[in-house]
Amino acid sequence: MPTRIKNLEHYQALCKKAIDDPTSFWDEQAKSFHWFEPYTEVLQWEFDTPDVKWFIEGKTNICYNCLDVHLEDHGDDTALIWEPNDPTEAFKKFSYDELHKAVCKTANALKAMDISKGDRVVFYMPMVPELAIGILACARIGAIHSVVFAGFSAQALADRVDDAQAKMIICSDYNERGEKSIPVKAIVDEAMDISCNSVSHVLVHKNTGNPINWSDDVDKWWHEKMDNMPTECPVEIMDSEDPLFILYTSGSTGKPKGVVHTHGGYMVYTAYSFQNVFQYEPGDIYWCTADIGWITGHSYIVYGPLLSRATTIMFEGVPSYPDASRFWNIVEKYKVNQFYTAPTAIRALMACGDEWTEGHDLTSLKVIGSVGEPINEEAWHWYNEKIGCFKAPIVDTWWQTETGGIMISSIPGVTDCKPTYAAYPLPGVQAVLVDPSGEEIREYNSEGLLCISFPWPSMIRTTYGDHERCKQVYFSAFEGKYFTGDGARTDSEGRIRVIGRVDDVINVSGHRIGTAEVENAINAHPRVIESAVVGYPHEIKGQGIYAYLICSGDSELDDTVRNEVIEVVRREIGPIAKPDKIQFVPALPKTRSGKIMRRILRKIAAKEFDQLGDVSTLLNPQIVAVIKENAL
Ligand code: WT7
Repeated sequence: MPTRIKNLEHYQALCKKAIDDPTSFWDEQAKSFHWFEPYTEVLQWEFDTPDVKWFIEGKTNICYNCLDVHLEDHGDDTALIWEPNDPTEAFKKFSYDELHKAVCKTANALKAMDISKGDRVVFYMPMVPELAIGILACARIGAIHSVVFAGFSAQALADRVDDAQAKMIICSDYNERGEKSIPVKAIVDEAMDISCNSVSHVLVHKNTGNPINWSDDVDKWWHEKMDNMPTECPVEIMDSEDPLFILYTSGSTGKPKGVVHTHGGYMVYTAYSFQNVFQYEPGDIYWCTADIGWITGHSYIVYGPLLSRATTIMFEGVPSYPDASRFWNIVEKYKVNQFYTAPTAIRALMACGDEWTEGHDLTSLKVIGSVGEPINEEAWHWYNEKIGCFKAPIVDTWWQTETGGIMISSIPGVTDCKPTYAAYPLPGVQAVLVDPSGEEIREYNSEGLLCISFPWPSMIRTTYGDHERCKQVYFSAFEGKYFTGDGARTDSEGRIRVIGRVDDVINVSGHRIGTAEVENAINAHPRVIESAVVGYPHEIKGQGIYAYLICSGDSELDDTVRNEVIEVVRREIGPIAKPDKIQFVPALPKTRSGKIMRRILRKIAAKEFDQLGDVSTLLNPQIVAVIKENAL
């Protein structure tokens, strides 16, 4: 097991060791895992290309380390608890032994369908056990999984399938979320009509059994393929640096990019961070409410917990169904010890009123976590009082799809928890603030751009199919540093508070949405001449999407266009990217070189009219007053 940080002195010593002698620090963390062949060197790196390799020549398999290594002594321990959308339905439990068998069967079925090492498999599924089982099965045979959040549209799914050149899509028939039943298979059919030429089979898990369209050549039933498959399946021996998965995430320009993570480094870091941040003890029940469609679900529902022999809960539903006490019912039902959720969920539940938390026994909670966006002061205090009962410390965890695991967080019992501060980097993480010229800011109490100046095992290796893009986006802004895209500040003791993105990425309910993507979608509407999309403060979502549109034709049709534009975005990307506000404008503020002045649009959207600054150098300064006057 990786090192468990015991106290502040130990934490400081580990930080120092990780800087002075990173090789032996990370060797210490890695050696407790199972390696079929030991690594010959811990790290080779170079940020300019970038070219980063961890645990060189080591042969391992993350699925083997999640399951097989626990079987001999702990096969009967509970690995996974699945809580269905409908609370009156039976929950499911898988021991390590049972999960191992299910994964092996699935791995054998995938092999029988011609999936082998290096092939890409896209998952488009609800939060059912088969999703966790499916990705572990891919890992077992060396196939590269790419989970696409099931809220994305057919077009967005097709884009990702095409980029990954996936050989198979695994989906369900329908997805049950709250009172909604989403026709997942029909969306896959639509994506297959759009493109997805690399796909030879769609494997369909029967979730509801409701009618779906079927094409005998392409579509195969999950249960039929699993039938009679052996419950043993040898693992593929993987190089430490072999890709484990691709996960698509939005950036400030272009289409989403496929972030690539590996078997070796990702394994070591997710287990190390999971055990330290959540202070997981054997026998604890751990629950992360995220969806496996995002990195949080990959690292802290599936891999981190299973590598740590934890009991991890997977929840199919939503916090508001059947009512706003659902989360707390689940905490009570399973006596959850560690609970990990997003500020947007906290704010939404807080807005429902305290009656939903009252009367619930939450005393089992030892650590409660927050992830995905800055947590505001009010939500922090509510979480601390109503859920943590002033007893369970809050870990505000900062990280990204690209970092693979938690980078900055308090460590319960070791470092303190200060509202709205993610606080200190984990030992082994060299976080620095820089000014726009790249100069490191060493003084405390300052503000800057958040960078990481030394590799960590679960860092992004490449953007799938386009290594140059990885270099451009993350390693070109500041020489010799990974740039996060976030702005941050420090307090007088060096605790870090991450303020938010400094690029054109909007964080809506903890989900990253690229403004360029939304604009491209909006511009597909025939009446839209030009558009500009910015984020603005939103009470529940953190940030909402504000779209400024220049349209042709009759302004009486504005309401129709507004609805159609929302529909276009829903179709091109998915409901999560729908603009919350649409303002029709005669022109957009531009610089003399023709660049849209987003800063001004952001200020207007935030109603910070006094902070517009000097607009006189614009190409069209007079437009600012017009837009301001009609701001929504
Ligand atoms: C972006 C990454 C990491 C899993 C979920 C999101 C923002 C994330 C925090 C936090 C302030 C945060 C950042 C980051 N973010 N956690 N604790 N405090 N901001 O993963 O979709 O890759 O988004 O989320 O802006 O860059 P992601």
